[in-house]
Amino acid sequence: MSIFFNEETRSFRLDAKDTTYMIQILGQEGILLHAYWGKRLPDPAALYPVGPYPAPENLERERVTIMDIMPQEYPTEDIGDFRESAFSVLTEGGHEAAALVYRSHTITKGKPRLAGLPATFGSDDDCETLEILTEDPLLGICAKLRYTVFEDLDVITRSVEFSNEGTSPVRLTRALSACVDFDRDDLDMVTLYGGWARENNAQRVPVHHGKQSVESARGESSNAYNPFMALMARDASEDHGTVYGFSFVYSGNFTASAQLDQYGHIRALMGISPQHFGWKLEPGASFQAPEVVLVHSDAGLGKMTRTFHDLYRNHLIRGKYAHALRPVLINNWEATYFDFNTDKLLEIARLAADQGIELFVMDDGWFGARRSDNAGLGDWYVCEDVLPGGLKPLVDGINKLGMKFGIWIEPEMVNEDSDLFRAHPDYAIQIPDRRRGLKRNQLVLDFSRKEVVDYVYGMISKVLASANVEYVKWDMNRTLTNLGSFALPADQQQELEHRYMLGVYDMQDRLTTDFPNILLENCSSGGARFDPGMLYYSPQIWTSDNTDAIARLKIQAGTALAYPLSAIDANVSIVPNHQTGRVTPFATRGHVAMCGTFGYQLDITKLSEEELAMIPQQVEDYHKYNPLVTTGDYYRLHDIFARDTGTAG
Ligand code: GLA
Repeated sequence: MSIFFNEETRSFRLDAKDTTYMIQILGQEGILLHAYWGKRLPDPAALYPVGPYPAPENLERERVTIMDIMPQEYPTEDIGDFRESAFSVLTEGGHEAAALVYRSHTITKGKPRLAGLPATFGSDDDCETLEILTEDPLLGICAKLRYTVFEDLDVITRSVEFSNEGTSPVRLTRALSACVDFDRDDLDMVTLYGGWARENNAQRVPVHHGKQSVESARGESSNAYNPFMALMARDASEDHGTVYGFSFVYSGNFTASAQLDQYGHIRALMGISPQHFGWKLEPGASFQAPEVVLVHSDAGLGKMTRTFHDLYRNHLIRGKYAHALRPVLINNWEATYFDFNTDKLLEIARLAADQGIELFVMDDGWFGARRSDNAGLGDWYVCEDVLPGGLKPLVDGINKLGMKFGIWIEPEMVNEDSDLFRAHPDYAIQIPDRRRGLKRNQLVLDFSRKEVVDYVYGMISKVLASANVEYVKWDMNRTLTNLGSFALPADQQQELEHRYMLGVYDMQDRLTTDFPNILLENCSSGGARFDPGMLYYSPQIWTSDNTDAIARLKIQAGTALAYPLSAIDANVSIVPNHQTGRVTPFATRGHVAMCGTFGYQLDITKLSEEELAMIPQQVEDYHKYNPLVTTGDYYRLHDIFARDTGTAG
C-alpha cells in the first residue's frame, strides 16, 4: 500500500520509492492544501507537521488574505490567491471566480487510462491511484484530481478531469494539470531550449521574484522549448541534492512555470497553455486534462534523469519494439532528396544490405505530384513515375535483399497544389477571408475533424497494407497559425488546437493498432515534437535534422536529460555535413550515432572504400553495445549546463 488517508488529520500521504507527497483538507469547508513533497518520511504513516494553518474563525475573517499565503493543491481564480492559478472559468454571467473544495475520494490499485490521451501505464502491482473529487457547489463544476504513485520509482503522476454537473454551460479558460507550492525560495529552474537543428540545450537559472516560464503556443510541443522543467535546490548538482522534475505527457501547446511570490514561496505549474485555449463545458460534459509526471530526486539531476528513463522505458513506450533491438536503418533523404526512383533506391539498398544494414527507409517524394516540397502533400497514393508498378515491386526487392522496408509520411499536412486541397479546401486550418499563412509551402489539415482523419488514414492505411511495410517515419513540418476550423461554432474555435492533438493521437492509435508490426518513428522538422506524448505511440523519435556528429553530442545529451537513449534516433551522415559543413571522421560519426538508435542517412554509393569497410564493424558494435545503451543506467560525466563551445561541454 502506498496511499494513506488519515481520518483524524484529514490528510493524504502518498509514498513512492524514496519520496512522500502530502495533501491536507482544511476545515469542514474542504479547502485542499499542498502539505509536502520531498524525501520519504519515516513510518508509520504519521503526521508530517503540516501547517500551522489558520483556525476556522480566522479563515472567515481573513479569507482573502489567507488564500494568497497558503500552499494550494489546485489553485483557482478570483478568490484571493493572486498567484498564477491552475484553473479558471468564465460563467454565463461573465464571472471568473471558482473555489474547488473536497467532496470525497477513492484509493484504488493500478492506474486508469486517460480517454483519448497518451499517459504512463502500470499494473495493480506497480501502482496505486488516488482520486480526489472536488467541486465548486455554486457552479456545479467538479474537478477530479488524480494521483498515481509508482511504488518502485520516485514518480507520482497527476491529471485532472473536469465535469459540469450544473445546469449552465461554462467556459474553461485555464485547465492546467498540476500545481506544486513550495515553502522555499531557493530553487533554480532547469529547462530545455533550442530551435531547428539545435534542439534541447539545458539552461539553469535561479527562480527570481515574479513569474518565469517556458511555453509553446505553436500547436506542437516545439523545438523552442521542451515540455520539461526541473526545479533544483540551489546547492544541488549532478549527483547531490534535491531536484523536482516535471514532464508533460502531451505534444501540443504547454506551459511550465515557476513563480516566486511576495512571501518567499515558489509555485510551479504545468499544463496546456492558456494561450489560444478555451473549452465550452456543457451540462453533463467532461474534459480530461493531460498527465504531468512528477519525479523527486534526493541525489541530484542524475538520479532524476535515471528515474525518467526507467519510467518512460517501462511505463510509457509500448509495442513490439519497446524493449527490442531496433533494426539498423538507412534513410535516403540526404542521399537523394526528391531525386530518386525504384532503381536508385534498390542500388542504395543492395550496397547497404551487403554491409549488414537491416532496414531501408524511403523518405519524402514517393507519392502524388511530390517532386519537390511545393506540391503533392495530402495525396497519399504511389506515384508510378517514381515507383513503376507501385510500392510492392520495390518492397519485394528490398525484402529479397534480407532488409525490412520503411516509408515516410506527413499525414497532418497539405499543399495547396494537391488533389486533396482542390477537392476539400475546407479541410485545411484557416480563417475565412484571411490570407493563409504558408510554411514550407504547406497548410495544416484540420485533424479536429474526424472525417479529415478518416480520409487521410483511409489513404495511408491502403498504402501500408499494399506491401510489407515494417517501419513508418511520421513527419510534421510546420506550426499551426490562422486558427480556424470550418467545423466548429464561434464559441468553440478555441478548442481547435487541443481537438487537433486528439485527432493526431487518434490516428497514431489506429495506425499502431492496425499495424502492430510497424515500428513507428515520429519526427517534426527534427525534434519539434520530441515529447512523452509522442513516445506513447512511437518508441523512437528523430532527434534533430542536424546530423553533424559534434553538434549531435550536445543535442543528444540535452535530450537525454529527460528521455531514454532508446528513444533518440541518431544517424551517420555524409561529410562535409549538410547542416554545418563540418568534417568529422566516419568512426566518430558512428560512435555518436550509437548513443541512440542507430542508422545511416547518406548515399552509401558515394562512400570511399575505407568508409564502406567500416560499416559491418559498426553494425556489429551496435548489436553488441546497444542493449547496454538502451537499458543501462545513464550517468552524465560532463556538465550538462556547460556553455556552447561547439562540443558537448
Ligand atoms: C523534414 C524531416 C527530414 C525529411 C524531410 C522530408 O525536414 O525532418 O528528415 O524527412 O522533412 O521532406
